[in-house]
Amino acid sequence: MKVDFTASDITHMRTHTLGKKQPLFRALGVEKGISHILDASAGLGGDLFKISCMGLKVSAYERNPYVFALLADGYLRGLQWAETNGDNELLAALQRVDLHWGNAEEGLAEFPGQAIFFDPMFPPKAKGALSGKEMQALHDLCGEVDLEAQKEELRTFLQSSSAQRLIVKQPLKAQPLMAGVNHSFKGKSLRYDLYVIN
Ligand SMILES: C[S@@+](CC[C@H](N)C(=O)[O-])C[C@H]1O[C@@H](n2cnc3c(N)ncnc32)[C@H](O)[C@@H]1O
Repeated sequence: MKVDFTASDITHMRTHTLGKKQPLFRALGVEKGISHILDASAGLGGDLFKISCMGLKVSAYERNPYVFALLADGYLRGLQWAETNGDNELLAALQRVDLHWGNAEEGLAEFPGQAIFFDPMFPPKAKGALSGKEMQALHDLCGEVDLEAQKEELRTFLQSSSAQRLIVKQPLKAQPLMAGVNHSFKGKSLRYDLYVIN
């Protein structure tokens, strides 16, 4: 398995399906001037790439070394492909991303951006943005889902950040990870819960 930002389905998504009506776009607050996101759960890069293709800068954190290695490898190959093939749009989208290996909590203090995006691992069987194969690989690499630990992470993001908003991706029908959601932006199988922070 590899991360491939040049795959045809990803290119189709980049050039056809990202728009202002997307719940993710609305949840991030792009129309309210948000332009820099901290992705606290980079994973295999699906969401951070969507966000950067919407024109936003993304500082992304992934703590699992194996997942990070897959992501970094795909990122570097993507950059190389874009340069070699003169795909300036892809190049710009990738250059808007900076990847960090480590806990997102460590990046909070120096993060100058305005919103945090958090996509915690869903319990098995819930539908997410990643395909079954990719999600299975993430589950294998990251281990069991620990909802209490996810709630603790969320509390840290809410308490220790100077960002204006926190967006948490959830399965459509799941209970919110924590009380206090200000608004939910719903898609077909997913929901983005918005916590207004500052
Ligand atoms: C469901 S996956 C994210 C999938 C990602 N949104 C994508 O599109 O590929 C969750 C990932 O977040 C990482 N993660 C969770 N909490 C984290 C934290 N506090 N700091 C850094 N990485 C974190 C996990 O290691 C896992 O790889």
